[in-house]
Amino acid sequence: MKNQKPTDILKKDHKVISDIIKILEACANSLEEGGKCDLDILNGSMNLIKNFTHKYHRRTEESVLFKIAEKKAAPWGARNISSMLREHEEGAEQVRRVADLLRESVSGGISSKKSKKAVIKNIYAYSFLLGSHLMQEEKILYPMIESLLASQERKNIMKSFERLNQEMMEVGDKERYVNLIKEYKKRLNI
Ligand SMILES: [Fe+2]
Ligand SMILES: [Fe+2]
Repeated sequence: MKNQKPTDILKKDHKVISDIIKILEACANSLEEGGKCDLDILNGSMNLIKNFTHKYHRRTEESVLFKIAEKKAAPWGARNISSMLREHEEGAEQVRRVADLLRESVSGGISSKKSKKAVIKNIYAYSFLLGSHLMQEEKILYPMIESLLASQERKNIMKSFERLNQEMMEVGDKERYVNLIKEYKKRLNI
């Protein structure tokens, strides 16, 4: 798309990420109310979070955009970036915890009451963290970075994004993820 900014691409990723979080939240709500959540949906959503959010989107931010912000907007940029990086790590840790608990799950459900509680707690914590993280990036960090970019730098970032996309995603991966999200939302009625 002509005149598309680098952060427009990241904001589109955020929509996908928010949708995955909605699915995880719906699962946590159902588990908390004593119901079930299909393990297939939980595991599938966790894979989406790992592959799309923590491998692809996170790497795009950290290895391209944040690097530029650190250079161009020190010390304000550096301070903000370090808090964003901390949140990336914190989120990844919460995701690891849920994934570990799900690995222990048995057919038909999560292995124990304690594990179920821990899954719910970590999903809620992750959703809370990411909700505020995505908002801070969109409202504060991205506009600040965009305001510092010359048009050639913007073009270079777009090229780096494209290169990373080719390196980290197979052709059709994004479409497959989006279709899977649609399917899960339909199954959960959300
Ligand atoms: Fe981020
Ligand atoms: Fe982001």
